[in-house]
Amino acid sequence: MDYRKKETTVVVSQEEISDGIFDLRVKTEAAGYAKPGQFVGLFPPSDGHLLMRPISICESDAESKTLRMVYRIAGDGTKLLSGLKAGDNVEMLSLLGNGFPTGEAVGKCIVLMGGGIGIPPMLGVSKSLQEENVHAFLGYRNKDTFLSEDFRKYANVHIASEDGSIGVKGNVLDALTAESEVKPEIIMACGPMPMLRAIKKYAEENQIIAYISLEERMACGVGACLGCVAKTVNKDAHSHVNNTRICTEGPVFDAREVEI
Ligand SMILES: Cc1cc2nc3c(=O)[nH]c(=O)nc-3n(C[C@H](O)[C@H](O)[C@H](O)COP(=O)(O)OP(=O)(O)OC[C@H]3O[C@@H](n4cnc5c(N)ncnc54)[C@H](O)[C@@H]3O)c2cc1C
Ligand code: FES
Repeated sequence: MDYRKKETTVVVSQEEISDGIFDLRVKTEAAGYAKPGQFVGLFPPSDGHLLMRPISICESDAESKTLRMVYRIAGDGTKLLSGLKAGDNVEMLSLLGNGFPTGEAVGKCIVLMGGGIGIPPMLGVSKSLQEENVHAFLGYRNKDTFLSEDFRKYANVHIASEDGSIGVKGNVLDALTAESEVKPEIIMACGPMPMLRAIKKYAEENQIIAYISLEERMACGVGACLGCVAKTVNKDAHSHVNNTRICTEGPVFDAREVEI
């Protein structure tokens, strides 16, 4: 069943898990329907009627009806969200986007890649996979890591850092090439655009299927404002243009189908 609702949720907890990175849990029935890679729209508490801020679902727990989101303070909206405390109300639009096609990963060597604040949605993906051969490559700026211990419950963890203070010096692809025994058959990734471009190129050169989660500034989150289009290789059947909406047709795309 599709769950699509703007609702008032209650904050279960919020803590700062690394410098400027917040771990927010809210109570909602949506937790019973969420797919890894989907996102929610959180409305920052304000009298100024701010637009929703799109944040990926990091984990969902149907039993406790809890959704977990992990985000970095980027500007005013996320700063306001970071002030939320247990028991506060927060307006949320969910469930948004398509999610990763985890069913396609069955029986394969799966490589999950997360860069920076693209790491949180990959935790939900790793949790949903029942496979043996799951590798999570996590890329950080420095040794201030977050969520890596959570990943260890579900995947073999490989770390990269830009400054080399932990793991392999460089990005997630540098860490993958350093692990010659890991032979990915399917890649699922979220992170900054340069990282996704490099993964698309790597996957095409090595004939590996890759699914990438794109980010764009969003206003409505439901396909109405066309504020979040990405260029596609194929023309849309209705509009006959090479565009797609990240909020509804994405945010997860087969890397071969988008021009980034
Ligand atoms: C589908 C999706 C999932 C996301 N998931 C997460 C997540 O799990 N955790 C997380 O920390 N962030 C996530 N983001 C990014 C997050 O939505 C933005 O950081 C947030 O909206 C910024 O709002 P703000 O008011 O704090 O900052 P603003 O003042 O609006 O912006 C601050 C700075 O960030 C830039 N920016 C804002 N939004 C984006 C964006 N979407 N992409 C690139 N740059 C942006 C602005 O250009 C500006 O430079 C996601 C975005 C999308 C589209
Ligand atoms: S955010 Fe409005 S169409 Fe995607």
